[in-house]
Amino acid sequence: MAEQVATNITWHDGTVTRQERQDVLKQKGATVWFTGLSGSGKSTIAVALEQVLFQRGHVAYRLDGDNVRMGLNKNLGFSAEDRAENIRRIGEVCKLFADGCVITLSSFISPYREDRDLARQLHVDGEIDFIECFVDCPLDVAEERDPKGLYKKARAGEIKGFTGIDDPYEAPEKAELHIRTDQLSLEESVKAVLDCLQERGLLKG
Ligand code: ADX
Repeated sequence: MAEQVATNITWHDGTVTRQERQDVLKQKGATVWFTGLSGSGKSTIAVALEQVLFQRGHVAYRLDGDNVRMGLNKNLGFSAEDRAENIRRIGEVCKLFADGCVITLSSFISPYREDRDLARQLHVDGEIDFIECFVDCPLDVAEERDPKGLYKKARAGEIKGFTGIDDPYEAPEKAELHIRTDQLSLEESVKAVLDCLQERGLLKG
């Protein structure tokens, strides 16, 4: 858990309420947290979902592991500590976006249950919906897809500590959504998330 280092700081409230933001944007902010192996389909679903939401007039924004690691988290690698810090920071960023009433789509492997639970707790504390979505497919299917050629490199010993090969992935035990991408089409996967957003009353208008 990150320590509070700065002292002599005071929280400063704004005057625009959450309800006022929701009324203007006709939606509630929330975080959809996609977790799963590399190649499981997290980013593919997030991209398609963002597009559908946008076409329907909603404000959604994707935060993607590879992309965020080129900026905010460029100083982090793939040790357990660095992955924890990666997820801690992105959990905080998701909370900020969702607090700003954006439907926030985060796709990170986020292999450790404890790190995901901390991201969830941040949202619970802020009374913001957090929808954990386990994007699931067997390792051999992800490895067969190998969209970036990284499994091949990991098997050849050219990448050490690759999730699913020689680094752990702790599957969620109580995710709000469980999407088997080896069994569902992309359209069906996107629909499953959309249905969940609808059922929770996050999409109005
Ligand atoms: S996480 O474990 O900290 O959540 P994150 O989602 O940000 O990972 O980044 C994963 C992406 O980094 C993968 O999709 C892959 O493209 C790349 N990558 C590079 N090295 C590794 C590694 N050792 N393990 C997993 N992914 C890696």
